[in-house]
Amino acid sequence: MKNIDDLVAKMSLEEKAALCTGATPWTTTKIDHLGVPELTVSDGPHGVRRVTDAADMAAVVLPATCFPTASCMASTWDVDLIHLMGQALAEECIGLKVDIVLGPGANMKRTPLGGRNFEYYSEDPFLAGQMAASFINGVQSKGVGTSLKHFATNNQETRRLSISSEVDERALREIYLPAFETAVKKAQPWTVMCAYNKLNGTYCSENHRLLVDILKNEWGFEGFIVSDWGAVHDRVASLMGGVDLEMPGPRERRVRSVVEAVRSGTLSKSVLDEAVSRILRIVFKVAETLKGDPFDYKAHHALARRIAAEGMVLLKNNGILPLKGHQHIAVIGRAAQEAHFQGGGSSHINPTQVDNPFVELQKTAADAELSFVEGYPADDSFNQELIDEAVSNASSAEIALLYISLPDSKESEGYDRSDLDLTAHQVALIKAVTSVQPRTVVILNNGAPVVMRDWIGKTAAVLEAWMMGQAGGGAIADILYGKVNPSGKLAETYPLRLVDTPAIINFPGEYGAVHYGEGIFIGYRYYDIKEIPVQFPFGYGMSYTSFSLSNPKVSKITFRDVDGLTVSVDVTNTGKVAGKEVVQLYLHDQKSGLARPPKELKGFIKIELQPGETKTVTLALDYRAFAYYHPGYKQWITEDGQFDILIGTSSTDIHCVQTVSLQSTLELPSLLNRESTMRDWMADPRGNQVLTPLHKEITTEIQSAIGSGEGDASGTDPLGFLMDISLTDLLTFQGKDLTTPPEIIVDGLLRQVYGTDR
Ligand code: BGC
Repeated sequence: MKNIDDLVAKMSLEEKAALCTGATPWTTTKIDHLGVPELTVSDGPHGVRRVTDAADMAAVVLPATCFPTASCMASTWDVDLIHLMGQALAEECIGLKVDIVLGPGANMKRTPLGGRNFEYYSEDPFLAGQMAASFINGVQSKGVGTSLKHFATNNQETRRLSISSEVDERALREIYLPAFETAVKKAQPWTVMCAYNKLNGTYCSENHRLLVDILKNEWGFEGFIVSDWGAVHDRVASLMGGVDLEMPGPRERRVRSVVEAVRSGTLSKSVLDEAVSRILRIVFKVAETLKGDPFDYKAHHALARRIAAEGMVLLKNNGILPLKGHQHIAVIGRAAQEAHFQGGGSSHINPTQVDNPFVELQKTAADAELSFVEGYPADDSFNQELIDEAVSNASSAEIALLYISLPDSKESEGYDRSDLDLTAHQVALIKAVTSVQPRTVVILNNGAPVVMRDWIGKTAAVLEAWMMGQAGGGAIADILYGKVNPSGKLAETYPLRLVDTPAIINFPGEYGAVHYGEGIFIGYRYYDIKEIPVQFPFGYGMSYTSFSLSNPKVSKITFRDVDGLTVSVDVTNTGKVAGKEVVQLYLHDQKSGLARPPKELKGFIKIELQPGETKTVTLALDYRAFAYYHPGYKQWITEDGQFDILIGTSSTDIHCVQTVSLQSTLELPSLLNRESTMRDWMADPRGNQVLTPLHKEITTEIQSAIGSGEGDASGTDPLGFLMDISLTDLLTFQGKDLTTPPEIIVDGLLRQVYGTDR
């Protein structure tokens, strides 16, 4: 490894500035005389999108394995499998001479309308964080880098280059940052990509608090920050804000502006040197991995099929699946012949091969007779003849398999969806087919939830097959015929209606800003607290076997927050075939100072069980699992009290509950000030002591002034009235009898609380 400090000392100002902006859209600047090589990046995240000519944004893309997109990956709930996928991606990077793959995407799915949701994992930060960390560890274990993106609050495509995401501190810390935080702390991605949008009014690319204070300093991120492609507006401001590398390049003017800023003293040399050092460390790190060894594309295709099958979610099954012995099967829907396996935009891969779902089905169905009709047009148009043809086809067969994919253009980077619907034609088709053929299985290909309540009732089964990657066609056949027992679980809620979704009245924003009005209540946190029925809950998915959870145990009933605890439960396969279950652990805080969601995912594990087999699984809960972020204390805090540990197989199928008692070891400072209410004073341990004598006096006086409640002329409960008025105001109301001004009295009390003047 080179001595980076020596190298930086040898570099001219111009060379340093040049290194901090790309040389081409996909490479960094090399400095031959100092032996600094270039570094090559490529999209990401579910395949390697290596162009033949790095200098050309629109160059031909080389073939690579298109794995299932993140919605499907997350639905596997299998961190080991995602690790394997990461390693396979790294092997392809090595083969295609790529140093860093631009992924994973760890943004939250704030609304199911998000155009890029297929590239993101979940509506839950814990699940997304585990997935992202596993992906990164997998890729980087082979000596290839990753770029964790898009940091942060890039949760919509509408006006993504300029919109300001207005997010309160608690939602930021508890919902929008933790997946990134986990990934950084557990996996140290070699780079992080900053988002296009603004966060609370400041471009992420200039957001010192986000990039430097939080990411680099608080979380200890060691790599370099790269801008999203075109996210930099002012190169000097972005360097000061923490962006080490601007992409894409070349940008001659930007480089000059950095040189001039250092010369004029507007930009400190140390800021530039820090960026240069961060970039150089990674440039030399990636160079340690020799590139060019071919990869085993057949093995990767097989892995893509395995991941697809593990991520597909069986949403409904009246017993028709797995298929057995049917001789005449009507296959309906163009997605059976043209696999819909990825979304639009920068993640678009040129696949090494694509499995045709119909062909794969035929291979698996052996001698069954399969017919095929198109079912619906490729676009949004309507064609009754296609429906009539499908109906006659379905009614003359034993069963119908309807392969339905959203039109390609519906889900893409760059814009959001305007609804959650299948096309009107597809809905009419499903209704028409299911009314003549009750044994109809719907197979869906989409990257994010669609609403189903209009058509699901008459179907026999529904399989969510996602944007399933290039080998997904075979994975569908594997599941339909039970060669693979489905074990995917939803990583996001399927709502009944768009109007039920959490961000509905705050999306996509107006006048350049979008207010995250639902705060910490996104996804199931929202549906839970509002008791809104959903089509399918977070964590849900069916199997061809059944499982029971029993014998829950906790390591301690009463525990200290810093010690955490472990939870174990026995899982039994009570059915007749082998299968996999995802044990999910949620926490419910019985009472808290600030509002908390009814339940939050804090642990999960996927295990495989033979029929009749029982295994004990153990999950660990640490301080953070029980804590919440307190914007007043500006830290993650715990409070003494009871927590219910909910163990289940989805967010609504809770099988076991254990109640434990947490003892907080925190000594929190008081937050009392002149505006604190009586309630605040009484809730604060020191404030309570200090105020108690005065509290009695005040309440007696007020009671005599405005009466004591019931039946009284003022029609109010005076104690209730008093509790939410600041102590200062309360004393002001009593003004006539006071010899000292209220502010002075309160300051005196505050001095007693803090033991010092403030
Ligand atoms: C996307 C990134 C991508 C980059 C390079 C941007 O428009 O937002 O996700 O990595 O382009 O293609």
